[in-house]
Amino acid sequence: MTQMPGLLDTEAIRKDFPILDRQVHDGRKLVYLDNAATSQKPRQVLDALSEYYERYNANVHRGVHVLAEEATALYEGARDKVAAFVNAPSRDEVIFTKNASESLNLVANMLGWADEPYRVDHETEIVITEMEHHSNIVPWQLLAQRTGAKLKWFGLTDDGRLDLSNIEEVINEKTKIVSFVLVSNILGTVNPVEAIVRRAQEVGALVCIDASQAAPHMPLDVQALQADFVAFTGHKMCGPTGIGVLWGRQELLEDLPPFLGGGEMIETVSMHSSTYAPAPHKFEAGTPPIAQAVGLGAAIDYLDAIGMDKILAHEHALTEYAVRRLADVPDLRIIGPTTAEDRGAAISFTLGDIHPHDVGQVLDEEGIAVRVGHHCARPVCLRYGIPATTRASFYLYSTPAEIDALVDGLEHVRNFFG
Ligand code: ALA
Repeated sequence: MTQMPGLLDTEAIRKDFPILDRQVHDGRKLVYLDNAATSQKPRQVLDALSEYYERYNANVHRGVHVLAEEATALYEGARDKVAAFVNAPSRDEVIFTKNASESLNLVANMLGWADEPYRVDHETEIVITEMEHHSNIVPWQLLAQRTGAKLKWFGLTDDGRLDLSNIEEVINEKTKIVSFVLVSNILGTVNPVEAIVRRAQEVGALVCIDASQAAPHMPLDVQALQADFVAFTGHKMCGPTGIGVLWGRQELLEDLPPFLGGGEMIETVSMHSSTYAPAPHKFEAGTPPIAQAVGLGAAIDYLDAIGMDKILAHEHALTEYAVRRLADVPDLRIIGPTTAEDRGAAISFTLGDIHPHDVGQVLDEEGIAVRVGHHCARPVCLRYGIPATTRASFYLYSTPAEIDALVDGLEHVRNFFG
């Protein structure tokens, strides 16, 4: 292995992640390469969660007692941290949800129930892409079925990128919303946001970006993206499960209707009608994920202290190394961009005719955790004529030695299956 510029001090970082010391299968060292599914959590986040429950636990925005005020300050403090993390112009533009899927469903439902000029109806069109996660396909299919709107999408090129050759036809005057992924969870592709946003703006369509695989790995600036909505999730960025984020432009959040009704989201309620609290509370019905938001705040502190630009450089160096090493594995075909340019640190591949489930199982026996299957992006597998892939995905604590272990493990898989 050669010296690689850009790598983080993983020896120090890994000490923060207790689970990375785990052994599996009778003393095998854990090689965790399933970070696109969920990341591991540093001690700082685990401590913030237990400290919250040990010292501050109360419901938020409701009580006058000390704990309620402290819990509210912590919860709202987490909102401030998220707003700063994504460079939001206002903290009121940050809505807490339970995950990115809920964030995307929220956008679809806001538009489905909206009045003009936002309403999606049978005369309008919704645009997505063929590389979306199911969570950015199904909510739009549901909306299209309910409203009669037409669902359209950008196809894919053979090398795993968006085919935007027909962008003027796909995004046209009828388009109400264009919703697409910033970094594909299955292909790893980083998409050309600017070209898509520019065309959407030309026709007056809203833009929603699924940043689930971007927020953990690179600096995210919602103002630079020029989107109207940006969705992501906490558990892929060192935070706990059960907390997601929807950032939305303030004037839209003021105009658009709520989706879920209940406590917290109202201003007044009578037996005949209700009025709603201002955003973001209008969109946070019920007791929110308080501890989870606090945990996400701690995760953001952790990532910020290392630096998102440094994390990006680390993963880029690892990805370059990984695509180079995987290229030497006989019969291995990367599904997605085959160079580290414009790609993230999730690498899907097939290995000859060996079924990915078999690949995953043999790797697991060696302690190597990867994801196998269609990765909740089945249309991508259909597009490339494959049933499934094996996916290795890296994060700030991943090391070149773990990539070497993966490559050795794949050699064993090939030997095992003859
Ligand atoms: N969306 C997660 C993944 O791609 C679960 O694995």
